[in-house]
Amino acid sequence: MRSGAVPNIRETSFYLLLKFSTKGLCKMGAYKVVIREKEIAVRENETILNASQRQAGGIFVGCKGGGCGMCKVKVVSGHTLDGIASKSVLSDDEHSAGYRLACQSMPITDMVVEPCREMNKILR
Ligand code: FES
Repeated sequence: MRSGAVPNIRETSFYLLLKFSTKGLCKMGAYKVVIREKEIAVRENETILNASQRQAGGIFVGCKGGGCGMCKVKVVSGHTLDGIASKSVLSDDEHSAGYRLACQSMPITDMVVEPCREMNKILR
């Protein structure tokens, strides 16, 4: 978050979660995320992308910073806390429609997601 910038609700919830969880005030359990019918376990405070990489979950990886959109997924079910994402790769309309950047999203429930890219194809 830039100094002096007004944070949006998505950024605020992500930073509050990190702040409280590192102080032990907020505990998150591990969640199951199903990606293309494969179930992976996501640790406390872990993004879907990091968990996917640990377990070969099949999400395309790019910048890991919310700027390229390579890791975009469609949430079929479940909820996330989200970090910073460039509006050029994840618009507010897409966010409202259930799209997330896996590198910026931490599950807060069990989830089912579908990647938007497979190798060099855009699936959605
Ligand atoms: S890997 Fe680039 S936005 Fe997620």
